[in-house]
Amino acid sequence: MSFRIQPAPTARPNRCQLFGPGSRPAIFAKMAASEADVINLDLEDSVAPGDKDNARANVIAATRDIDWGSKTLSVRINGLDTPYWYRDVVDLLEQADERLGQIMIPKVGCAADLYAVDALVTAVERAKGRENPIAFEVIIESAAGITHVEEIAAASPRLQAMSLGAADFAASMGMQTTGIGGTQENYYMLHDGARHWSDPWHWAQAAIVAACRTHGVLPVDGPFGDFSDDEGFRAQARRSATLGMVGKWAIHPKQVALANEVFTPSDAAVAEAREILAAMEEAKARGEGATVYKGRLVDIASIKQAEVIVRQSEMIAAC
Ligand code: COA
Ligand code: MG
Repeated sequence: MSFRIQPAPTARPNRCQLFGPGSRPAIFAKMAASEADVINLDLEDSVAPGDKDNARANVIAATRDIDWGSKTLSVRINGLDTPYWYRDVVDLLEQADERLGQIMIPKVGCAADLYAVDALVTAVERAKGRENPIAFEVIIESAAGITHVEEIAAASPRLQAMSLGAADFAASMGMQTTGIGGTQENYYMLHDGARHWSDPWHWAQAAIVAACRTHGVLPVDGPFGDFSDDEGFRAQARRSATLGMVGKWAIHPKQVALANEVFTPSDAAVAEAREILAAMEEAKARGEGATVYKGRLVDIASIKQAEVIVRQSEMIAAC
């Protein structure tokens, strides 16, 4: 047992991050009107190379012209392996409204990637006298990213959230699939001749959750590409929530309600968590550290488990 207290992540809802290409300003107002907690305007892979300057200008204008309500407003910049990223950072920090709260750095491979962006961001913030430091979120979507996930989670005090990017991750790992998240046809076990599907994203998700929880960062599940498959999205999101992730991306507006449904603790789950806390209060009054709730053991660890659900529900209700 370490004497260090596990740091709490930023207390803000992050159930759904809705993405939209920066080159498609006609959807920005629809994104703002959605029920997503986080908006990601994209300058990276949904924008064609010839459209980068145009998209950057659209996004900067949108930070001023659109009422984003209480949402976290984030822009995904281009990767550090491109010629675009420094201009993204400089123009966003110099020209965007202070309403822009966060930038998302894709394809992060090591802690020094965050150091480099942090140095540039810090210099521009000082030069411009920005009042609120911009936050970072990163995508783990490469073999290097998952290998260095713990040092990345610890790399910058600006870092608030970390997502798994299934498509680039699969490509970087050489995985034999073109699917973006979800069940993979060939990833199964055989038992008595019957196929049982396993989850090829599981270990990367668990590694991300552990790194994030160690360093007070929000772990988030990335995209689910087949936006016609609601049940597939729900199943993926439920697995992520069970592992400790707090939210999931939406790459189409119809996925927003699905993410909010899965990542908002249900009334039944909150009621049960409160009952466990009450049962433990009674046990404590009797001088006991363990008791029985609905025929099963609950003890002092159960208090912490129940508090995860209650705290999440209260934080969401407060926003
Ligand atoms: N946010 C908000 N609204 C959106 C939207 C988005 N990301 N994508 C589409 N819409 C709107 C459309 O404008 C349309 O509105 P309308 O009913 O007023 O006409 C409605 O939702 C239905 O759109 P639909 O026709 O089903 O989709 P499309 O063909 O216009 O776009 C995608 C489909 C996938 C190309 C588009 O959703 C998209 O670009 N998603 C984000 C991609 C992205 O950012 N990728 C990077 C991260 S992986
Ligand atoms: Mg990607």
